[in-house]
Amino acid sequence: MELQEQKRVSLAYLPTPITELTRLSQFLGGPRLFIKRDDLTGLALGGNKTRKLEYILAEALAQGADCLITAGAIQSNHCRQTAAAAATLGLECHLVLGGEAPELANGNVILDTLLGAHLHWSGDNRKGEDIPALVATLQAQGKQPYVVPYGGSNVLGATAYVAAMEEVMRQTHSGFTHMVIASSSGATQAGMMVGQRHYAPQCDIIGVAIDKEGIGDTRFEDTVLALANDTAHYLKLPIHFDAKDVLLETGYTGAGYAVIGDAEREAIALTAQLSGILLDPVYTGRAMAGLFGMIRAGKFRATDRVLFWHTGGAPALFAYADALQPAQMTQSVMNQYPD
Ligand SMILES: Cc1ncc(COP(=O)(O)O)c(C=O)c1O
Repeated sequence: MELQEQKRVSLAYLPTPITELTRLSQFLGGPRLFIKRDDLTGLALGGNKTRKLEYILAEALAQGADCLITAGAIQSNHCRQTAAAAATLGLECHLVLGGEAPELANGNVILDTLLGAHLHWSGDNRKGEDIPALVATLQAQGKQPYVVPYGGSNVLGATAYVAAMEEVMRQTHSGFTHMVIASSSGATQAGMMVGQRHYAPQCDIIGVAIDKEGIGDTRFEDTVLALANDTAHYLKLPIHFDAKDVLLETGYTGAGYAVIGDAEREAIALTAQLSGILLDPVYTGRAMAGLFGMIRAGKFRATDRVLFWHTGGAPALFAYADALQPAQMTQSVMNQYPD
C-alpha cells in the first residue's frame, strides 16, 4: 500500500508494547485481554495524538508554518501533545481551551504551560469555534499559523492509526478477535477500521463513545464512517465502509463528557490494582468501563482475544482529584476487589 510514501515527522517511540492483562481477565471471568500501550508513545507523557501529529505536522512543516493552533477541552490531551510536538520542532503553539482560566492550574494545563504554549480561554466553545479569529490575529502579526484539526482527526491523523494497525500485525501474528478503543473525535477508530480491513480482516474494531453528542450537527457514527472512507480514498485503498461497519458502543457515556462516575472509578481502580497500569478518567477509564460492560453482558467467547488500546491521558487523573478520593473509591468499588 501507499503508506510508506506518506510524509511524517518522527515524534513517537514506536512500536509501543503489547502485554497481557492476565489478572484482570481472570477477575472478570472474560476472554484473554491484552493492552496496547499507546500511553507510552513518549511525547510529554504520551497518548494517541502523538501518532497523529507525526503525519499532521509533516504537512505543517511542508507548508512553512511557524506556529500551531489547536483547540480542546480544558484537560485536552491532544492540546498537551501538540504543545510538546511544537516544542520539539521549534514552533510557537497556541491552544484554544474550553472554559475559563482556572485559579489553580492542574493536570494537562500545567504541562501545557511548562511546554511553553500560549493559552486562550474560550468559555463554552471547546471544539475550536474561536480558531478563525486567532488565525487572523496571528496572520496580521506576520506569522504563518497552521491549524491542527480538533482531536487531530482528519485523514492524516487517521493514517497514523492505519500504520498503527500494521505495527500490531508486525508485533503479533497470532491475531486478535476484537480491539476496543475510546472514540471521541473519531480518527483513531476510523484509521483502525481501514487498517483492520487491510491487515487483519477477522478483527472487530469496537469504539466506546466518550461523548453523548456528535460533532456539530453530525451523528458521531457518521463522522467516523466518513473519516474511514475518506482515509481509504486518500491512501488509494480499494476499501469501502457502510454504516453497519462502524461498531460503536454508545451506552457508556454516563452523565456526560468528563463526568466521572462509579463505572469509570471501578475500571480505573481495578485496572490499576490488577495490572499496575493507570488509565485516565475521561477516555480510557470510560472505554475500559465499556469493555467490562461488554464482558459482563456476554459479548465475548472464552476463546476470544481482545486488545484494549490505552490511548493515554493519565495526567488528567490529578485534575479530577475530587472524583477519585479514597472515600469515594471505598464506597463505590473497593468492596468488590479481590484479595
Ligand atoms: C486519552 C485519549 N484517548 C482517546 C481519545 C479519542 O481519540 P479520537 O479523538 O481519535 O477519537 C482521546 C482524544 O482526545 C484521548 O485524549
